[in-house]
Amino acid sequence: MDKCCETCGLWQYSDCPMILGRGNDIDPKIVLIGEAPDPDEGKKGIPFIGRAGKKLDSMIKEALDNNDVFITNMVKCFPPASTKNPSKGFRVPKESEIELCKPFLIDELGNFASKTTLMTLGNIALFGLIGKNHGITKEAGIKRIVKVGNTLYNLVPNYHPSFILRNNNYEKEFRRIFDETYKEKNNVSE
Ligand code: URA
Repeated sequence: MDKCCETCGLWQYSDCPMILGRGNDIDPKIVLIGEAPDPDEGKKGIPFIGRAGKKLDSMIKEALDNNDVFITNMVKCFPPASTKNPSKGFRVPKESEIELCKPFLIDELGNFASKTTLMTLGNIALFGLIGKNHGITKEAGIKRIVKVGNTLYNLVPNYHPSFILRNNNYEKEFRRIFDETYKEKNNVSE
């Protein structure tokens, strides 16, 4: 699925095509949704293959080995460094970029049955799916139904692996939320 896009302006900093998800793109049990690729991932064309991605892979190893997950992002091109914090290398996506990119997420999800569960990683994907008046610290692990495009999905918010790299005492909680969700999916007869 090679796609180019000039919608929100981030294309200027990325090589075309945009960075779509990796993993099981047919019938994943869980779709993990991060923020946006970083510049290296932008160059390689694969999301979550840097430090945060390696951390994520290590925490979901069994599901990854069983090809039960699809890993993607809310925004498909990497945002450039902000002028306020140029040393960080990239900034958080803007609300307008999230909105303009949403059709591509809807497109990716459209390949899956609605029985797949969405797991947002961190605040940006959570804001993108249910609005800015929500926050991961209060809502991690709290299940809800969300409409994305025309389809209803189960949504389980979880912490972002970059946050866990900075605060490793949250790893246990990430694993608990992921493992419970994965176990539940495995117990549901299809
Ligand atoms: N890499 C990604 O693809 N997404 C993130 O949210 C962070 C790193």
